[in-house]
Amino acid sequence: LNNGLALTPQMGWNSWNFYACNINETVIRETADALVSTGLADLGYNYVNIDDCWSYVKRGNKNQLLPDPKTFPSGIKALADYVHGKGLKLGIYSDAGIFTCQVRPGSLHHENDDAALFASWGVDYLKYDNCYNLGIKPKERYPPMRDALNSTGRQIFYSLCEWGQDDPALWAGKVGNSWRTTDDIQDTWKSMTDNADNNNKWASYAGPGGWNDPDMLEVGNGGMTFAEYRAHFSIWALMKAPLLIGCDVRNMTKETIEILSNKEVIQVNQDPLGVQGRRILGQGKYGCSEVWAGPLSGNLLAVALWNRCSENANITVKLPSIGLDGSSAYSVRDLWKHETLSTNVVGTFGAQVDVHDCKMYIFTPAVTVATS
Ligand code: GLA
Ligand code: GLA
Repeated sequence: LNNGLALTPQMGWNSWNFYACNINETVIRETADALVSTGLADLGYNYVNIDDCWSYVKRGNKNQLLPDPKTFPSGIKALADYVHGKGLKLGIYSDAGIFTCQVRPGSLHHENDDAALFASWGVDYLKYDNCYNLGIKPKERYPPMRDALNSTGRQIFYSLCEWGQDDPALWAGKVGNSWRTTDDIQDTWKSMTDNADNNNKWASYAGPGGWNDPDMLEVGNGGMTFAEYRAHFSIWALMKAPLLIGCDVRNMTKETIEILSNKEVIQVNQDPLGVQGRRILGQGKYGCSEVWAGPLSGNLLAVALWNRCSENANITVKLPSIGLDGSSAYSVRDLWKHETLSTNVVGTFGAQVDVHDCKMYIFTPAVTVATS
């Protein structure tokens, strides 16, 4: 969507994966504080997104949405002011149906009033869900909110949460800044890999202004191993997926912080070229040893070796099969070790990758020094 936003995938935090409906204004404020104090905000995680359950179960006497008086007694405007005061942005949630998924009022047929209210509160981002949609096609239900947000005059990021219904990559580029390509992520290896595979199909439709969204991060929620979370983060970054943290950032382990604050991997995600990386090898003769890659600005290539087998594996790749020159030298940097492994890789490259782990690299054409 050409609204000046999402030139790179959105980064931030969302309440749903960890808190579900157990949210309140204190949690949101403390999350904003923690994003700053942990250094995550400085790394680019700047949206603080409230998901379902912030609103009261009924509209007010002017038909307006109301914050739940028990959990958000100070209101959303005060929260937006607080979050803005930290240099961050506030996101909110509604639904392109008559109710949200947790049966709070939806915005279908209230698009203009609700968008105006969000703008008056200083909201910067809307996640727009798909429950209770009366069987109307998403292609019809999502554009009215785009137009309503646009007419507020406030720049508001528009995140479509239509669960991949009707292949959004084919039509949502003109509607939203990102669109879900999958079902809801669960904190499991199976769900994470399924969502990666489904999102991969639509790689060619992503770009600055509009991104495929395989759903939010589960890193730090406890259901996967360190290797699996590292793979989750690496592949999401390479796929130019939104990097929306979904754990309790007030209580993160060292491992969780290490993954989420890997600056080199974040840079791959935020590269200005904005081309979604994809699976190049795997599911064929490579079987469960996969190679994913995507071009970066400056003629660099991001490469991931992802071991989806049930034991450790040695993954080797011939450079021409990932689009590189078979006889030129490349410098290879390991983005998890934070070190340049070699400045003279020619022909093939390989590494030992632990079960379910993922190694990530940047390949740079080696500079040829002219001799005279
Ligand atoms: C749907 C969405 C989720 C979350 C919940 C909230 O399932 O896909 O991301 O927003 O609703 O109820
Ligand atoms: C079902 C659920 C929704 C959402 C979608 C995601 O429809 O009711 O809340 O999770 O699946 O695919």
